[in-house]
Amino acid sequence: MANLDHLITEAEADFAACDTTTALEDAKAKYLGKTGALTTALKGLGKLSAEERPKAGAAINVVKKGVEAALNARREAILDAAQAAQLANESLDITLPARAQSQGGLHPVTLTLQRIEQLFHSIGFDVATGPEVETDFYNFTALNIPENHPARAMHDTFYVDDDHVLRTHTSPVQVHYMEDALKENKTPPLKIIAPGRVYRVDSDATHSPMFHQVEGLWVDQEISFANLKGVVQDFLQKFFERDDLTVRFRPSFFPFTEPSAEMDMSWNGGWLEIGGCGMVHPEVFKHVNIDSEQYQGFAFGLGVERLAMLRYGVNDLRHFFNNDLRFLSQFSK
Ligand code: DAH
Repeated sequence: MANLDHLITEAEADFAACDTTTALEDAKAKYLGKTGALTTALKGLGKLSAEERPKAGAAINVVKKGVEAALNARREAILDAAQAAQLANESLDITLPARAQSQGGLHPVTLTLQRIEQLFHSIGFDVATGPEVETDFYNFTALNIPENHPARAMHDTFYVDDDHVLRTHTSPVQVHYMEDALKENKTPPLKIIAPGRVYRVDSDATHSPMFHQVEGLWVDQEISFANLKGVVQDFLQKFFERDDLTVRFRPSFFPFTEPSAEMDMSWNGGWLEIGGCGMVHPEVFKHVNIDSEQYQGFAFGLGVERLAMLRYGVNDLRHFFNNDLRFLSQFSK
């Protein structure tokens, strides 16, 4: 039987000339197809004698394996080249400029709180804080609002459980601060503001279930209502940058101050209520072991959103809490 070894070199050359797998399949037929050289050779084995057949068969198989190996190698090479071409085409251009990062800014209420803290700091007030989940004792009882007292109905309170509330005002911080001062053997003058979140069951254009107050407290031996008036008016004039701004005090009632007053400030020819105030009630001093014969103090509570609305000309309180960037971005510098 004729030597078929040359078929391997021939096939390699034929396959190398193919650039696509389709062309390769066509080229394969010449060797391994139904009428291909190797198929024909295998068919011819039947004509050989029983002695010659195994040897010839083995020889044909060696060639067949060689052709198949050449075929597979070429097929892989073609697929690799196709993939490389595809990758080159699809590659990302990472040199594109990145999308700009927006910087963000401080919330108008935060800006207002910062301004308040800065102004009070400049006249010697420290900043104190207290818990937002408050015990019934600190939120009410220690502020001379005993159980079943009608004053509790002034606040629509969120109860956490029988003994805990979301604080309805920042006044409990007065009690915490005076109590802690005593523990640290710190004696008056005690002079703080306490800014923070407070909560009430209330929601409309001028009320939000969560809002901010700033409490003020100044305890010393010779503190009077006149000091209160001076501090509040001075603060408001600086806050609104208006020297002609005046403050009016209307007699009122708060259980933790005596006398108590409502504070109004002059605004566009009229008066606007901005908070409550008064002289610290002796009952409150009693709860924190401060001798009310020796010390007096004034306290006040201001609504922070109210101040922010007036300063920035915002007419609906809910804008502050809707998280609408079109609104918020107007305040970032
Ligand atoms: N805590 C009062 C409230 O939220 C406001 C207030 C009134 C605070 C009089 C005071 C004060 O410190 O003296 O309604």
